Amino acid sequence: MIAGKILVIDDDSNLLEVIRMRLESANYEVVTALREEEAIEAVRKDLLDLAIIDLQLASRDGISFMEDVHGIIPDLPVIILTAYGTIESAVEAMKKGACSYLTKPFDPRELLLQIEMAMENRKLTSEIKRLKGLVEEKYNFANIIARSGKMHDILAQVALIAKTDSTVYIYGESGTGKELIAKAIHMHSERKNKPFVAINCSALPETLLESELFGHEKGAFTGALKKTDGLFTQADKGTIFLDEIGNMPLSLQSKSLRVLQEQQFHPLGSKKPVKVDVRVIVATNRDIKKEVREGRFREDLFYRIHVIPINLPPLRERKDDIPPLVNHFIKKFSRPMKKKVKGLTPLAMQKLMLHDWPGNVRELENTIEYAMAMTTENIISEDLILPASGLSPEPLKPLNEAKAEFEKNYIIHLLELTKGNITRAADLAGRYRADFYNLLKKHRINPEEFKE
Ligand SMILES: Nc1ncnc2c1ncn2[C@@H]1O[C@H](COP(=O)(O)OP(=O)(O)OP(=O)(O)O)[C@@H](O)[C@H]1O
Ligand SMILES: [Mg+2]
Repeated sequence: MIAGKILVIDDDSNLLEVIRMRLESANYEVVTALREEEAIEAVRKDLLDLAIIDLQLASRDGISFMEDVHGIIPDLPVIILTAYGTIESAVEAMKKGACSYLTKPFDPRELLLQIEMAMENRKLTSEIKRLKGLVEEKYNFANIIARSGKMHDILAQVALIAKTDSTVYIYGESGTGKELIAKAIHMHSERKNKPFVAINCSALPETLLESELFGHEKGAFTGALKKTDGLFTQADKGTIFLDEIGNMPLSLQSKSLRVLQEQQFHPLGSKKPVKVDVRVIVATNRDIKKEVREGRFREDLFYRIHVIPINLPPLRERKDDIPPLVNHFIKKFSRPMKKKVKGLTPLAMQKLMLHDWPGNVRELENTIEYAMAMTTENIISEDLILPASGLSPEPLKPLNEAKAEFEKNYIIHLLELTKGNITRAADLAGRYRADFYNLLKKHRINPEEFKE
């Protein structure tokens, strides 16, 4: 089986032949070219998997030639060959899109290894692109930032759930985005052109909440001056979002249970049942099972609402979402604040990465809003980030755990800075690429996600 088709261009015909033999014995199909015209012809006509380009071609430099190649096949992996002593141009080549370089004379095994890695990487990239496309383009969750695997999984789940009418149970700490997800489910459902009605079940005293939810007849209670529709009626054909359902008073729980079972209910003071067609989404930041055990929440209602659970992880468990969230919020506040903020200083970003975020995404949003309001420059410096927080307010962790966490965040930060360029990131960290790859593997970080 052919492992892939490779174009080699060099003005040295001997070297071309040597490379051809090596690659062919490793099962690659090889196209060689002495001159740029032939090479471009091959790029246009052949289905290439990789190109090996000499830095010093017959009539021009390999880097600008590579750029021409990328003009035709944008993501074709390119390995640059350089003569000894031209490392600077090699680095330049990497910046312009080469995936690696080799200094002549090179070890053929090294060449094969680099080819293998480049091909592997390309496969991975296209797979990621495909998956991303699935989540982002097909379902178009434009306003939801999701870089972490955990959030990708949730969006994939949301896309599936949206097409059903089942009750959804969103569980997550405060500020993790429960309402955002509830709206996304509605917006991707068949009900999207009908109302999305939200109510916080802990915000109102019992009678008011009951009349809010189910409506009332004129004179049903003191102050009920006219007949009013409840939110269940307003949400007919649409979606109702019962936030903090864990705080719903017991008496209303039984009434809600009946709505869920029969899709009908009696407004306060009315003998006539009202029939509705609503999709119910509930959210809670408490452990309702505990409420059930302690008698504050009806078990039968719990099972009725706990049909499709979505567990929104706290931000500290998906810190790779922090950098793109920060960009998102900077964009969001730029316009109303009439400020052109480009980003954060590396130290400011580091501070964000180290914080534990008990208030989750909402706390991050507030932090960025504050910093943007206070900054007088177009870049946010670290003194505007969490100024009151001091250092490390979290309880102490075992050394190994703390080290691993630091290492992971440090790498994420490097990749953020270098936009996923492994060579530069490894350089900044003072590590070899291979070591750096091992670190990525250890922390299951995918560098592709940091590319623009
Ligand atoms: N993944 C995300 N992408 C973009 N914005 C987000 C994301 N998650 C949360 N937010 C934003 O963070 C804020 C808090 O989100 P939301 O109100 O949905 O959280 P919540 O879990 O309902 O919070 P609470 O428990 O306090 O009611 C909102 O402004 C929301 O738009
Ligand atoms: Mg909420």
